[in-house]
This record gives sequence, C-alpha cells and structure tokens, in this order.
Amino acid sequence: MDKLVIEGGVPLSGEVVISGSKNAVLPILAATLLTDEPCIIKGAPFLRDTNTMLKILRSLGKDYSFHRDNIVVTSSKTHNFVADYKLVSTMRASFCVLGPLLGKLRKAKVSLPGGCIIGIRPVDLHLKGLRQLGTDIDIEGGYVVAKAKNLKGASIYLGGEFGSSVLATDNIMMAAVLAKGKTIIESSACEPEVVDLAEFLIKMGAKIRGHGTPTIEIEGVKELHGAEHKIIPDRIEAGTFMIASLITKGNITLRNVNIQHQSALLDKLKEAGATIHKDGDCLTVTAKRQLKPVNVTTLPYPGFPTDMQAQMMSLMSVTPGISIITEKVFQDRFMHVAELNRMGARIQREGPHAIIEGVKRLSGASVMASDLRASASLVLAGLVAKGKSTVSRIYHLERGYENFDEKLRRLGARIWREKE
Ligand code: EPZ
Repeated sequence: MDKLVIEGGVPLSGEVVISGSKNAVLPILAATLLTDEPCIIKGAPFLRDTNTMLKILRSLGKDYSFHRDNIVVTSSKTHNFVADYKLVSTMRASFCVLGPLLGKLRKAKVSLPGGCIIGIRPVDLHLKGLRQLGTDIDIEGGYVVAKAKNLKGASIYLGGEFGSSVLATDNIMMAAVLAKGKTIIESSACEPEVVDLAEFLIKMGAKIRGHGTPTIEIEGVKELHGAEHKIIPDRIEAGTFMIASLITKGNITLRNVNIQHQSALLDKLKEAGATIHKDGDCLTVTAKRQLKPVNVTTLPYPGFPTDMQAQMMSLMSVTPGISIITEKVFQDRFMHVAELNRMGARIQREGPHAIIEGVKRLSGASVMASDLRASASLVLAGLVAKGKSTVSRIYHLERGYENFDEKLRRLGARIWREKE
C-alpha cells in the first residue's frame, strides 16, 4: 500500500483538467444492465470504484473494453442476478445494480452494502420504493433477495429523515423505466449525477420527465436499447481543486467544469472573499486578500454538498476567526476532525457541528485517511502545513480522484508516493 508524502508551503498554479464524475459514471454503468445491446460511456474517470463496478457488471454477465477514456459495455451470453458480497462490500454504490436487475430480469440478489465510516448508511428508502413497484423483498444472510412477477408503476414518496436519497432515486428510476404504467417519485434527489443518469436512460429509450426537480415522472416502456453518453465533469473534484487554489494562496485554472453545478460552493467561497473568474467551461478561483471565516451547512443538492464539507473544513482551519460547519446529510462525517487537529487545527465537535478557530499555520504530521473526502481534506491541509506530512491508506483517495497526486504535482505541489 502507498502513502502520500507532502512538503507544504508551495502556492499552486497552472491548469488542471477535471475528470468525469465518479458519482455519475457508477449508476450509468449499472444502467447498462437494462439492455443487451452495446453501450458506449465516454469521458469515464479511471478510478478504483469504476473498476469495482465493471467487475460487478462482469459477474452479472456483461463484458467491457476500454478505448482511451471510453468504456464499451456489451453483453455476454449469460445473465446472472446475484451481486456478490465480496464486491458489493467494497463499494456502497454497487447497491444500485438492484434496480436495473429487477427492471430487466425481474429478480435480483444483492448483498446489503453495510455501513461505512461516515454513517450507518441504511437502504430503507430503496426497499420502500421497490416494494411499492410490486417487488417482493426478503433479507436473507445479509442479502436483499428480490423478485417482481410484474413491476407496476406507482406514486412513491422517497423523502427520508435526512432528506432525499441519491442512489435510492437512481434505483427506483432504473426499475421503473421497464415497469408497466406510470411512476411518480416525489422528494427525489436533484443532484446533477441523477440528472445525468436520467439523460442516459432517455437515450436508451426511457420516458422520463422532471429529473433535476423533486418530482420525477416515468412512463414504463417494453425494452431499452444501447446508447452512447458522455459523463458530466466531477463537481466534487472541481471543488477540491478550487480549495487547493485558495488554501495555498495560488492561482489554479480548472478546465472541463460545469459551472451550473457549483452554485452553492461558489456562493460560499465568494462570501469568504474569494475571486472567481469564469470563462466558458474554465474557472479560476483565487484569494486576492485574506479570506474571512464563513459558516456552512451541508444539504441535499442544490444545497452545499456534503462531499465538499471536509475540504471546506481544511480551508477554514487556516482562515483567521471562528467558522461553524454543520453536517446535515450524514450523522458521522467528521472523521477528518481528529486528523486535522493532529496537524495543529483547532476544531471542536458539538454533535452535527464543527466549530473551527482558524490558526496561522498547520504543522506537518503523519495522518490517516478514513474516507474518500476526508483523505482529500488531509492532502489539502498537507499542502499548506509547515514541513512534511504523510497521508496513509490513500486507496481511499484512489477510489474517487483520478491521478490526484500527479495533477497536484503538475500544479507545483511537492507531493510524492512512498511505500507504507
Ligand atoms: C451518494 O451516496 C453519493 N455516492 C455520496 O458520495 C454522497 O455523499 C451522497 O449521495 C449524498 O449526496 C454516490 O453517488 C456513489 P444518500 P448515497 O442516499 O446515495 C440517508 C462520495 O464521497 N438514507 O443520498 O448513498 C443516508 O444515510 C460519496 O463520493 C436513508 O436514510 O447517499 C444519508 O444520511 C460519499 N435511507 C442521506 O440519506 C436510505 O435508504 C443521504 O444519503 C438511503 C439513504
């Protein structure tokens, strides 16, 4: 296993090209289960998670090949409906094969994803929606065993105590596109990645309206055909590089950014005093003067993204003054607090709030990554800390950031890999 070594203090500058979205490509790859015809997924990011999803697809009877950053998914002769624990337990997003397996085969056996470091991660909303579409669901030996003699459209309310659910919306949509009749999903997730999935399904012949709003309408069709689709840029990778530019007091220009997807984050960064320069799909975010502390509350899209919470905390850790970050989407997404404090940050946790007193300088330390976005926040802190930091267990990073350390090196960061 590798670790990252970082020598802080270098203002980063130059251009970085943002990769395709992890959280769009995963459900879109799962959606290829809905047809036996070939699908071409363009602009896919090459990540651990992409490979995991492709392995699951292969175990379910799909074949695939790479052509630069395009993935061609075809069907082998076999159809398997069991998604194995070994693979599903390594990546929660694998659970979104449940909907398309039910849509196409009317049966599925998918391992429950289990919890992870940021919370217990229940799937009650997924199961509630699928049951309302006429699926019989049992939980046996840690697996969801589902069968649906005939899927019938239904009106489904998908709001949970933490608001909408991205992957539950995806699962229900992918089952409903081949159900009989009309399905209405209320309190559906509005994330751009859900919209990208809906756009792909429509190219496959699905009838979907209202995606991107809290009410999605789906008219079931008999079958879906193959399609070609270009994945949207990764809005969280883009946000991470915006913070890298600000925290190092550098000047990074991002290319391949969908600026419409960045409103909540850009609004917050502007409030903190950042200078934002937009030019087509390019974005430059700089700090012409000392930033001010801001308060942040994470909410489902279009609110401030929970996947940017840890990175924002790193920035506020070195912003003089008091800021408060409130995590409203996941119960326990503060694993990075203890590690940042080991680097000299002054962060106090009070329930869903983190109270941050900005310090002049962080100091390099050996820290451990715990989840994907926490790992990114530790790298950002290392870029600005005095001296050397090492971030171990960086496989978390490799799950969701394509060539992260290489992209940072190209921007001038003193960052390299060493064996653990
Ligand atoms: C997706 O996870 C993303 N993952 C997450 O990104 C992201 O943080 C999350 O949406 C929220 O935006 C992918 O798209 C692959 P949810 P998902 O269901 O769909 C609760 C990253 O770093 N809930 O929207 O699993 C849940 O516990 C990852 O890229 C239920 O209560 O998240 C949470 O509190 C991390 N019951 C809230 O809803 C359910 O049945 C939102 O979760 C489902 C979810």
